[in-house]
Amino acid sequence: MTAMAEKNGPSGGNSANGGWEAAATVLEMRDVHAAYHGDISILNGLSLSVKENRITGIIGPNGAGKSTALKTMYGFLKPSRGSIVLGDEDISGRPPYDMMARGVTFVPQNRSLFNELTVEDNLRLGCWHFRRDKGKVEAALERVFGQFPILAERRDTLAGSLSGGQQRFVELGRALVVEPKIILLDEPTAMIAPRISREIYDFIEALPESGITVVLVDQNVRQCVNVSDMVYILDLGRNRGEGTKEKFSHDDHLKEMVAEWLDYQID
Ligand SMILES: Nc1ncnc2c1ncn2[C@@H]1O[C@H](COP(=O)(O)OP(=O)(O)O)[C@@H](O)[C@H]1O
Ligand SMILES: [Mg+2]
Repeated sequence: MTAMAEKNGPSGGNSANGGWEAAATVLEMRDVHAAYHGDISILNGLSLSVKENRITGIIGPNGAGKSTALKTMYGFLKPSRGSIVLGDEDISGRPPYDMMARGVTFVPQNRSLFNELTVEDNLRLGCWHFRRDKGKVEAALERVFGQFPILAERRDTLAGSLSGGQQRFVELGRALVVEPKIILLDEPTAMIAPRISREIYDFIEALPESGITVVLVDQNVRQCVNVSDMVYILDLGRNRGEGTKEKFSHDDHLKEMVAEWLDYQID
């Protein structure tokens, strides 16, 4: 894989405790190939590193394989070649349940709440694998309600009657009840109003401070580059480039690459 040689400047990413280079790798895709059906390969040799308490961004045009990359990391798809390494364990092909048990959680791109259940019951479903430990479930719910006061207010509301942004917060809350070490987020602000998007990005940006490592797939290049410590560019299921926010603002080649397919502008 291509190592990133550049250090984060003071404004690169969100990490006060050292830049990208200083952090330990906690999850890695090494030359991963994967297909949904037969030999129609969607990932074609993808390599990337996710670092502890950092935000790793993934951008790329529609259909590039960003969601497929996350689904493969989380075990919904099994690599046909290459490997996925969590810590020092090769977990290629392990099912999502195993990933959850190892502290990895996933918020998919498509809406995934049970509309006919209340906010609280949706959150309780996130506690499924420790459901017999009633004390732990109640503590997890209270923790999430503390993090998202709006969800505490709406705990008895049916999820389907919430706004899109509020539903996103329920999905984030449901992923956080398990106290994950790593959270995989697929386009968390797609179709969400700008004001709420800002709140969601602020929330994501603060996750590393509470010891949560983030992988952020995003169509919004500007926001993704602004909040991430490192951004990988994908196309056709393989690496096209990578860089810190600093590098994105100076490197014409990277700028041109993303400008090809997106309206690109960095703060
Ligand atoms: N469930 C699926 N079955 C078959 N092909 C799929 C499935 N999901 C996505 N694809 C295909 O995989 C490619 C990459 O899709 P995806 O990973 O969703 O891209 P992105 O998230 O970058 O927009 C696309 O060509 C898409 O049609
Ligand atoms: Mg996608």
